[in-house]
Amino acid sequence: MRRSCFPKFRLSRVMAWLQLVLGGLVIVVSISSLFRFYAAGFFMHNEDICLHFYSVKDVYDGFDIRALSDRVGEVLNRMESLQDKLEKTVQQLEKEKDALDKTITRLEYKNFLEVEVIRPLYSAHIALRQIRLPKAEGIGNSTMKEEPLINTFVIEEIRKYITPKKNRVGKVNIYGAEKIRNTIGHACVLMKKELEEYMDYDIGSYCKDDWNLAQKLMVNGCDPLPRRRCLTRASKVYQKPFPINESLWKLPDGRNVRWSNYQCRNFECLSSKNPKRGYSKCTGCFEMDKEKPKWVANRSVPVDFLISDILAIKPGETRIGLDFGVGTGTFAARMREQNVTIVSTALNLGAPFNEMIALRGLIPLYVTLNQRLPFFDNTMDLIHTTGFMDGWLDMLLLDFILFDWDRILRPGGLLWIDRFFCNKKDLDDYMYMFLQFRYKKHKWAISPKSKDEVYLSALLEKPPRAI
Ligand SMILES: *[C@@H]1O[C@H](CO)[C@@H](O)[C@H](O)[C@H]1NC(C)=O
Ligand SMILES: *[C@@H]1O[C@H](CO)[C@@H](O)[C@H](O)[C@H]1NC(C)=O
Ligand SMILES: *[C@@H]1O[C@H](CO)[C@@H](O)[C@H](O)[C@H]1NC(C)=O
Ligand SMILES: *[C@@H]1O[C@H](CO)[C@@H](O)[C@H](O)[C@H]1NC(C)=O
Repeated sequence: MRRSCFPKFRLSRVMAWLQLVLGGLVIVVSISSLFRFYAAGFFMHNEDICLHFYSVKDVYDGFDIRALSDRVGEVLNRMESLQDKLEKTVQQLEKEKDALDKTITRLEYKNFLEVEVIRPLYSAHIALRQIRLPKAEGIGNSTMKEEPLINTFVIEEIRKYITPKKNRVGKVNIYGAEKIRNTIGHACVLMKKELEEYMDYDIGSYCKDDWNLAQKLMVNGCDPLPRRRCLTRASKVYQKPFPINESLWKLPDGRNVRWSNYQCRNFECLSSKNPKRGYSKCTGCFEMDKEKPKWVANRSVPVDFLISDILAIKPGETRIGLDFGVGTGTFAARMREQNVTIVSTALNLGAPFNEMIALRGLIPLYVTLNQRLPFFDNTMDLIHTTGFMDGWLDMLLLDFILFDWDRILRPGGLLWIDRFFCNKKDLDDYMYMFLQFRYKKHKWAISPKSKDEVYLSALLEKPPRAI
């Protein structure tokens, strides 16, 4: 454990004590103006006393030291100004020593100051400084640990959300936990202004139509977002969805979407022919005639595999899976026709992708790249990915994503990398990333995309793991 320069105190005790000290200071100041004494210049300026013992580099695990240090900093400033005042008073008294009350000797005054004022003040100052030092683990039992982040936020609803909720009457809940902690992504702290705007509402009232603010927070790493206690807005003219035998291949009713944060006002407007459609990825996705041939008809590029070929590799074994990419659920629709259930990830980047997938009768999963996938280990038969993973992705980020996919894929499960593309010179690096798991290679195809870019498609099978 790291050494600190002072013994550790329980935070609450120190805070309570701090208030006492401040109260005491006020009294000291009053006393100093009542008595007349001299000892000017005795006070030390000890701002740097503890700085030698700890540095900014020290990390306090699980403890929001910055927020606390901000609070303490305020108190320290106030205390220092009190000290200055006290000092000035003493100097003033020094000048007016002729009027000194002759019944009390100078020595007595000096002793009084040293013992009764300066020493307590000095130790109080030191004590204040050590408030910056407590380490969560050092404070006491785990149940006594200071909760991180709460002091960071001012908006009451955020503070309520992140405060742990204890089970009633000291019971352990069905999950075996004593309390429930609601989580927020650490980037929420960096995006404090946006988060406070997001969490500023009247409980029980209608939320603002601010899903785009929420999404901005999410894609920047404030993910998961806090839950809210306001009612989400919905289309005033929501129509019942089409029956499943029609919905898969039909453009949904535009009245079922709130369009206010998009450039378009209906699904027809999202056509690739419209330059003002408001989104750039997956441009033909809202045209069913363009979507229908995908994965079922031979395409121009040799990197396109057919669903029938893939399913034939392990007949009947592929039942559930994840489609990680950008799209309107067409892959899931085709798989559904083969009695395979696919969950499709989607973000509403400029168009209502989530609503579209859901209105087609398929399952949209609203997750960002940041999140660990909400599936248990070794559960999925298939992961298909297309459309979003290409040359922009940071290698380390991709590595974390691939390991997460490996986690949820069952032994014998298939990873279908579909039309991944990157710069030719990066191909070796990406190939290494995909092949590092030593999956069985069923299919592997590379073809040129442009002068400098290449497509890569692969069908890989996760091997059984002995351990
Ligand atoms: C610390 O935890 C132990 C058991 O985990 C408990 O017996 C003890 O009372 C706790 N101490 C405090 C100060 O809460
Ligand atoms: C879809 O199914 C319903 C009954 O479930 C039927 O009335 C309707 O005609 C079907 N539509 C099509 C296009 O087959
Ligand atoms: C795709 O092309 C191959 C040979 O080029 C052919 O055998 C196959 O039937 C075609 N499939 C479809 C769906 O057109
Ligand atoms: C899907 O399941 C239905 C009902 O069990 C069955 O009639 C149909 O043939 C299946 N389709 C495929 C492609 O296996």
